Amino acid sequence: MKPFIVLALCCSFFSSKANPLPFEFLDCDDPDVFKAVDAALKKYNGDRATDNQFALYMVMEAKRTAGSVTQFYVKYRIKETICATEENKLWQDCDYKVPAEAKTGECTAQVHMNNTEETSNVLQDCKIFPVAPKITLTKATCLGCFHPISSDSSEVSEILKQAIQKFNRHSTEPALFKLVEIKEAKIQVVAGWNYIIKYEIKETNCSKDQFQDLTPECKTISRG
Ligand SMILES: *[C@@H]1O[C@H](CO)[C@@H](O)[C@H](O)[C@H]1NC(C)=O
Ligand SMILES: *[C@@H]1O[C@H](CO)[C@@H](O)[C@H](O)[C@H]1NC(C)=O
Repeated sequence: MKPFIVLALCCSFFSSKANPLPFEFLDCDDPDVFKAVDAALKKYNGDRATDNQFALYMVMEAKRTAGSVTQFYVKYRIKETICATEENKLWQDCDYKVPAEAKTGECTAQVHMNNTEETSNVLQDCKIFPVAPKITLTKATCLGCFHPISSDSSEVSEILKQAIQKFNRHSTEPALFKLVEIKEAKIQVVAGWNYIIKYEIKETNCSKDQFQDLTPECKTISRG
């Protein structure tokens, strides 16, 4: 059996069902979420001595550890403002820079709020993106372009796992097939995310009669 290439396409792959951790998802407009994001963003601005302040642009995702009122996980987007950091203004009082000059960023933060002390403990990672190119025409035609992404990413492996499961369930082959190699992974940003992943699968020594799904003992067999 010759190995062959399959194409997987997946839209907006940000479902929570693959996440077994005991989190509860919160509404991004929840006042507690705003407090957590505010604390995280103030910390981010406070830690940078130079450049301008960033202001909140959008809360992407918010959850907290189930049963806890103080432990938050938030993902939010920020945009550069016209306020210099040393002005010490509140970010809420700062206007965004014009789009052609504003840096943007995305932060993932873990925030522990201490409501009695009115303090917070923030662990976060922010990625800042450079100013968008000035030639908006190029940008417009390129919305929807595919960009290569790392084939090691957890999104890619989760998509592939599901795609191969689906393939095995529906194929007419007597044996289960298994991933051999990821050839290429690309992402397209449109209204959501489209992934295109090219990968190679090979027949294993587990027959569908004996096995419902792939197990570690299923090894690929090289024939032909
Ligand atoms: C809040 O901070 C105080 C003093 O640092 C501490 O004693 C208390 O346990 C904290 N509360 C929470 C919920 O972490
Ligand atoms: C498949 O092959 C591996 C290694 O050769 C072996 O350990 C395993 O038991 C085999 N599985 C089946 C279902 O024959």
